[in-house]
Amino acid sequence: MRTRELGGLRVPAIGFGAMVLSPGMYGDIDDDRAGRALRAALDAGAAHVDTSDGYGDDGHNERLVGRAIKGRRDEVVLATKFGLAVPEGEPSRSFPVGYAFGELRVNAEPRLVRRYAERSLANLGTDAIDLYYLHFPDPGVPIEETVGAMGELVEAGLVRHLGLSNVTADQLRRAYAVHPIAAVQVEWSMWRPVDPELRAAARELGAGLVAWSPLGSGFLAGAVREVGADDFRRHAPRFSAENLAANYDRYAPVRDLAVDLGITPAQLALAWLLYQDDHVVAIPGSRTPAHIEENAAAAGFTLHPDTLARIERALEKFDVSGGTLL
Ligand SMILES: NC(=O)c1ccc[n+]([C@@H]2O[C@H](COP(=O)([O-])OP(=O)(O)OC[C@H]3O[C@@H](n4cnc5c(N)ncnc54)[C@H](OP(=O)(O)O)[C@@H]3O)[C@@H](O)[C@H]2O)c1
Repeated sequence: MRTRELGGLRVPAIGFGAMVLSPGMYGDIDDDRAGRALRAALDAGAAHVDTSDGYGDDGHNERLVGRAIKGRRDEVVLATKFGLAVPEGEPSRSFPVGYAFGELRVNAEPRLVRRYAERSLANLGTDAIDLYYLHFPDPGVPIEETVGAMGELVEAGLVRHLGLSNVTADQLRRAYAVHPIAAVQVEWSMWRPVDPELRAAARELGAGLVAWSPLGSGFLAGAVREVGADDFRRHAPRFSAENLAANYDRYAPVRDLAVDLGITPAQLALAWLLYQDDHVVAIPGSRTPAHIEENAAAAGFTLHPDTLARIERALEKFDVSGGTLL
């Protein structure tokens, strides 16, 4: 697969987001199906695997990934995140989000950073993490302090590159002054523009951008008409029954454009994203091997300037109902 560089780390243009593989995220799923999906991602070359200590209970998602990469560690760029799965008995602070439940609880105190990393290394069954992210900045801790402790992990050889997720341009600049940041993970897709200041700061500093939920949590792939009671998306305003129905209709011109081009809406959404910046990569999630192969193929697509202009015209008219998550 075509590769791109994130601040000195070479990764496939289309990677794989493993969050969908833990129960309670996108509905029920068992570990066998999850393992098949991860193997399909590696086989398709989407071998930038993104997980977090906060996905699933008690490191479930990291342990799934650890099992799937056993014997294939050299093929994989392994990325994980910390700060959401706060150890028992430790304090946490509120990070406001647009989900109906309103907040996430985080702790990114420097004294806990090595403990987080050692726990993730054990879950993943590896001796080094290629890309280690702060999942959400801690409102009670200056980001310089968290990143200082993350830098010590690099010195100790436990981590190869540092990343930040869900940060502002200012936070990125302040963090970068302490330690180089290879990648910034941010929600970015056809229905969620990226903050231009963050994008400019990343470009100036040479950090790559990793687009999370690049398929709009599945919406942009074109088939989501409702979400079940055990699906995390029911908390997201864009997936309420009313908003979802309105969004589905308004997205029709983009779906039609994909049909005209003879590709799927998911492929169009991913290929479009790769055209936004030389240093952007996508990490779509999927539990379905056929979708994983389909998504990986989008890394090789060429979009003609006329096609890009048609997409932009369609997106300008795509008036999304429901607020954003962050
Ligand atoms: N840093 C953060 O705070 C943060 C937040 C959210 C997510 N993330 C990362 O981003 C990754 C991806 O995000 P995400 O999983 O939320 O959203 P996503 O990748 O935008 O969408 C995933 C959904 O799209 C569907 N899908 C994928 N490919 C498809 C295809 N070709 N055709 C039809 N449907 C398709 C999947 O269903 P099927 O299973 O049926 O294919 C799944 O329900 C996560 O795994 C995680 O690593 C990070």
